[in-house]
Amino acid sequence: MVRVDLRSDTVTHPSPEMRRAMYEAELGDDVYGDDPTVNQLQERAAELLGKEAGLFVSSGTQGNLVSMLAHAQRGDEVLVGDQCHIMNSEAGGSMVLGSIVLYPIRTDEFGFLEPDLIKDAVKPRDYHKPPTKLLAIENTHNASSGRAINAEQMKAMADAGHEKGLSVHLDGARIFNAAVALDVPVADLTEHVDSVTFCLSKGLSCPIGSIVVGSEGFIQEADRWRKMLGSGMRQVGIIAAAGLVALDSMIERMQEDHDSARHIASRMAEMNGISVDPEHIQTNIIRFKVPPHTGNQIASRLKEEGVYINGGDSDLRIVTHYGVTNDDYEFAISALDRVMREIA
Ligand SMILES: Cc1ncc(COP(=O)(O)O)c(C=O)c1O
Repeated sequence: MVRVDLRSDTVTHPSPEMRRAMYEAELGDDVYGDDPTVNQLQERAAELLGKEAGLFVSSGTQGNLVSMLAHAQRGDEVLVGDQCHIMNSEAGGSMVLGSIVLYPIRTDEFGFLEPDLIKDAVKPRDYHKPPTKLLAIENTHNASSGRAINAEQMKAMADAGHEKGLSVHLDGARIFNAAVALDVPVADLTEHVDSVTFCLSKGLSCPIGSIVVGSEGFIQEADRWRKMLGSGMRQVGIIAAAGLVALDSMIERMQEDHDSARHIASRMAEMNGISVDPEHIQTNIIRFKVPPHTGNQIASRLKEEGVYINGGDSDLRIVTHYGVTNDDYEFAISALDRVMREIA
């Protein structure tokens, strides 16, 4: 039996308060714009992130997709980090459904894209090349162990894009983790970008949903694409109600996830066969290395011990989240220690 599921913060279940709010939610038909709970959530989110308007979408992937479709046309180019989620884990949706070209830029180990690399990647006006329209950046940066990119760095990347006439989108699936880790208002991190996707169903622990925010005009366009993608979702206030609870009660508590991740990483650093730098861990994602070709074996042995993590050849990940107790984390650390001794 699995006791501790550390595959992702997406495995979280709604809190009792969320379930109550969902039960009691005031509803309407959101395709007519009539759902008061959705409207309230969209407005709250836009205000928090310092933008004009918001749009409730079914997932982070859909939020990024409608944003790219709203910012860029068929045949246009979007600059992305080569290690980002949009590039590597969203099934190439913007390329398939929008005929948009994704152009990857080298990402440093902290998830940052050097402004000069951004500027150099923008294509000159030349009909041999796709016109570069958008820069998409990510914070926290999942592949860099959830690194939080600070406001100054966010501004530097966004300025580089704007200087070249691009719009700038932020995949802020975990932007509240970044704000908590850096101890700044979230709007400080979103101030310089034109649009943001953030996820309700990760560290904020909602069962479903993400929000896109941006200007009124951009959100109208994103809404059109959302409809086309089949996500005009009627009485969706039943889900949005959990989002309102999350924005009230789940942001500050993410510090606990960050502290747990740092603690786990420091214990892992003492284990034979694991390579991890606890100092690198700022939020709730721990990426670590194990000897080549042992990752899948470690993951399946851990599962037998009651701890669930995703497998892989030698790069593994643990994500801390709501619903896991300190005892559960200690249980997971002991199981990992046992398994690593066996492997050695
Ligand atoms: C950085 C980042 N962006 C976007 C997504 C996509 O979110 P969803 O799983 O809701 O589609 C994820 C999911 O893990 C993510 O880590």
